[in-house]
Order: sequence, then structure tokens, then C-alpha cells
Amino acid sequence: MKIVKTIEEVRAQVKAWRAQGLTVGLVPTMGYLHEGHASLIDASHRDNDRTVVSDFVNPMQFGPTEDLESYPRDIEHDARLVEAHGGDLIFHPEPEEMYHEGFSSFVDMTVLTQELCGLSRPVHFRGVCTVVSKLFHIVKPDRAYFGKKDAQQLAVIRHMVDDLNMDIEIIGCPIIREEDGLAKSSRNTYLSAQERQAALVLSRAIFRGMELVRAGETDCAAILKEMRSLIEAEPLARIDYVKIVDCATMQQIGTLDRPALCAMAVYIGKTRLIDNFFTEDV
Ligand code: PAF
Repeated sequence: MKIVKTIEEVRAQVKAWRAQGLTVGLVPTMGYLHEGHASLIDASHRDNDRTVVSDFVNPMQFGPTEDLESYPRDIEHDARLVEAHGGDLIFHPEPEEMYHEGFSSFVDMTVLTQELCGLSRPVHFRGVCTVVSKLFHIVKPDRAYFGKKDAQQLAVIRHMVDDLNMDIEIIGCPIIREEDGLAKSSRNTYLSAQERQAALVLSRAIFRGMELVRAGETDCAAILKEMRSLIEAEPLARIDYVKIVDCATMQQIGTLDRPALCAMAVYIGKTRLIDNFFTEDV
């Protein structure tokens, strides 16, 4: 397993693999890897001959008041995890390698990004689309792997690949949770012991929502009301949004009469956490 920092090194390695007829999977990450990322690397390792993991905290997807500086980083830990899960190459560039002086081209999307996380993080998806399309151009993978925890991101990437005719298969992988239900996230490390306990309201509300859907409830307002009241009962929690949207458009719906996504963003103290479920997976 190798770690490289330049685009040239990635390209040389991928070219050598291609010359041997090997297939390549890409797992884009911002590092500080956990079992959620490990499951993406496992999936890529299963489906492809070689796996590249990008490990880059992308400044472009953070707003001015967000946690770019404090975002956790630990490349030695990441390298051990990637190796243990069969990854072959880590691309770990400096910001200047990805965004040279004078950088001025962006990938922006006018649909799907105006709801859910896009409302409170207005520059986020432009940053994600730009860096992911750069990674796609650099690695030219056969397949790329994204977690369903970032459900809106997954929908946006699929849409971008379709709009821009990128010849890459996008694979969405299930949410990985801690034993007590909390969805794995690099940002969980921000939580104090008391906040970590309080953060369980997210998964508790998700599981309650799933239960209601499983029991045949189709009225979105009724489902959301129960989920919100569970979260509101926790003093350390502040709801950014809890919504049910059409999977295809990310627009809110009133009745579960089509494939839908129930998604939430909740602040626990200063930490913003997300969680969700797809009604089709219930
Ligand atoms: O999901 C993430 O970690 C990031 O948004 C991604 C896809 C690696 C782009 O920086």
C-alpha cells in the first residue's frame, strides 16, 4: 500500500495498472477513517482489482464559519485502516496540489442542492461536486463508492455523473452504526461524553420513523411529528431539519406514495450530525 501526494504519481500508478488490464475502484474520503469508510473500501476491494482511497479535507466544501480547521486528521491511522481493508493506494494531496493558484473552474448543480443540507450549507455541494469531478478525472476509476449516510451527496453525485456523461459506476453503501445506534462519523469525535449520549436521539428518531413506515404509516407529517418530538425532548439537541423528500428530486412530499428519503441534521451542542433512512430500505 502506497501513499502519494501528487496527481502525477496517481496517474502513473493507475496507468501501470491499466496496462495490466486491471480494474480500479475509488473511495473518496476526507480521512479520519472509521468503519463506515472501511465498508466502502471492502466493497471496492470486492468489486475491483485495485482500490484508490483519496484522503483530502476539501476546503472548498466548507463554509466560512464551518469546521475546516478543526476537522480531525490522522494519516498514519488512515494508512493502517486502508491497508487492513485491501486498499492499494492513498492519494493524500495538499490543498495547493488540488487547487493551484488561479484555480477558477467549478462544478455546480441547480437541482437537488437547494434542499436539506444545501439550505444550511450553501457552498457545500459546489465544493463536493468540484472535488469529486477532479478526483474522477485524476483517477479515472471504473467504480466509485459513497456512503448512504450522506444521502443527498450520493444523489447529487449520481446526478452529476449522469449530467456530465462520466463513465463511472456509482455505488451507494449502507450506513454503518455504533452498537448503540449512532451513525459512524468523523465528527462524532467532537462530542463530549454527555453529548455522545445525547446524540443517540438521532438514531432513536430514525428507528422510530422506520418503525412507523414499516407499520404502514404513509402520512409524512405524522411520521415527522413523532420523530421531532423525540429529538426535542433532548435538551442538548437543536434541529436543523427533519424532512421527508422524494428520492429523485429532494423535494418535500406529504404522502409516502413513491420512493422517499427521511433525512435529518441535528446540532448536538456545536456539532452538526446527520442521519437518514430510505423508505425502500425499511
Ligand atoms: O463524503 C465526504 O467525505 C466528502 O464529501 C467527499 C465525497 C470525500 C468529497 O470531499
